[in-house]
Amino acid sequence: MKNLREQLIDRIKTLQILPTLDNVAEKLLVILDDKNSSFHDLNNVIKYDQAISSKVISIANSAYYSRGVEIFSLQRAMITIGYEEVKNIVTCLLFVENILKELKLRSDLLLELWKHSVYVACAARVLAGRIFSEDPQKVFTVALLHDIGKIILYMAVGDYSELVQDTVGKGKSLNKVEMARFGTNHEELGYILSVKWRFPEEFSQVIRCHHEGAVPEKYQPLLRMVRAADRFTTASIHHNADPETFILLKEREGIMKEMRKIMNFFQLDGHETD
Ligand SMILES: [Fe+2]
Ligand SMILES: [Fe+2]
Repeated sequence: MKNLREQLIDRIKTLQILPTLDNVAEKLLVILDDKNSSFHDLNNVIKYDQAISSKVISIANSAYYSRGVEIFSLQRAMITIGYEEVKNIVTCLLFVENILKELKLRSDLLLELWKHSVYVACAARVLAGRIFSEDPQKVFTVALLHDIGKIILYMAVGDYSELVQDTVGKGKSLNKVEMARFGTNHEELGYILSVKWRFPEEFSQVIRCHHEGAVPEKYQPLLRMVRAADRFTTASIHHNADPETFILLKEREGIMKEMRKIMNFFQLDGHETD
């Protein structure tokens, strides 16, 4: 009889979806990860994908960007939204369509994970913009993906959501609680998943150690930002804050606004996931 850890790892092995096998998704990940990519490169890939193009156009026509003139073309839409913002939107779209929806998580759990991921991603991007040691786009993407290991636990463990809320509410370490109960934790499961999906090495390393543990020196700045952003989401203003948390607490309103904006663009309700 296999133990719980082995059963959870088997679950990853038998997962059918492979986001990077999708041709467009694979090309997009390369462009999004390349600091030197241009508006033109992104436009050239998106324009062949009906679903992404129409989403970008509909966002350009949303209340956030609309200036009263209806936009019909992808190029116009991208100019209206702005290149950096389009990159974030496409990253979220890949995460939602290729990972979250494909795995058919229960809709309330999907929303819980999605909200936390977007919150951490928005916070991490603000930090990257302040500290200048990493490309904000890369930081946003890794932060969005940092907790993907939770997907496996949400799928396999009936009361996982309650376990997370209870543990975080009591200020305990989720990793330790998971380890005691499952013999593994969402860091290890996320790491295995990220290797299976052939994420870049630095993404996998950060996913593996986003709560504790050490990564190679060159990935340290990235890890530091994701950790700080993750911690910030449960920090309070009275907390004895470290410098990163202090920056983020001061920017909290702007970060929440950005999170709500993205949540609005990708409204995940029960109907879409049933
Ligand atoms: Fe985590
Ligand atoms: Fe997290």
